[in-house]
Amino acid sequence: MPILFYLLALVLFASSSFAQEKAAAPASATTNAAPARYEQRHRIVPGGTGRYYMDREIAHVVSGNETLKWLERPEREQEEDTSNMVKLLVLKPGEKAADIGAGTGYITRRMAEAVGPKGAVYAVEINEEMLELLQADVRKRGHTNIVSVRGTETDAKLPANTLDLIVMVDVYHEFTHPYEMMENMVKALKPGGRLVFVEFKAEDEKVPIYPAHKMSEAQVKREALIFKDLEWTKTHATLPWQHVIIFTKKAAAAVK
Ligand SMILES: C[S@@+](CC[C@H](N)C(=O)[O-])C[C@H]1O[C@@H](n2cnc3c(N)ncnc32)[C@H](O)[C@@H]1O
Repeated sequence: MPILFYLLALVLFASSSFAQEKAAAPASATTNAAPARYEQRHRIVPGGTGRYYMDREIAHVVSGNETLKWLERPEREQEEDTSNMVKLLVLKPGEKAADIGAGTGYITRRMAEAVGPKGAVYAVEINEEMLELLQADVRKRGHTNIVSVRGTETDAKLPANTLDLIVMVDVYHEFTHPYEMMENMVKALKPGGRLVFVEFKAEDEKVPIYPAHKMSEAQVKREALIFKDLEWTKTHATLPWQHVIIFTKKAAAAVK
């Protein structure tokens, strides 16, 4: 039943119409027009916006009460095996990490336990209501190592070259500007830092999530590896619904 509410919330959420945006890429040899990074198409898959990036339809940004309840639902641990998900991040005490699209902080607070009092977790959100709830929860639980950050659709607003790990749990597929978000997140990682995608498996039709809110491992790799400072490290396929796809910022990558 909670899943039905969640799906309903996704349908009801109307996305704004996006104009075509031009990439910073150079003009092609045959025309003077720069290629579009994002485009609006007529075909819309369930849960999608009609906005496309690298041949993938971007999903709606989720919000609202049903989403809040869905993120904190008691059966989430069993359905998504979130304890194991956080273990797969291999966070060490003292590390600095970021949880992008932190929502209510369900994953953030588990990460905060893993990095301990000498570490820090930046909880980044664009939704003011989510951020306020997360901040209230952090105060209530007395976490001293969670820093909340109001990001934008293009920038997680993280300090450059400081993070050991950045994770996006069920989030990347709904970024309106995945290219710009990635560019800024890669800058925020230390050389050797890990960038982790936790995405619902598009390869598994039994995963009860709208198609636009799922991603295949191949598509994640395709979109991540246009960033030359990243290399693919490992994919864990052991969770029931999501795969955990890990990239590393190359040791030689300098801050730009
Ligand atoms: C499906 S929820 C996942 C929440 C959380 N990661 C979890 O698993 O509990 C996705 C969240 O990402 C946020 N979001 C979407 N685009 C974002 C962006 N560009 N930067 C930061 N947060 C974003 C949304 O506001 C929403 O709260």
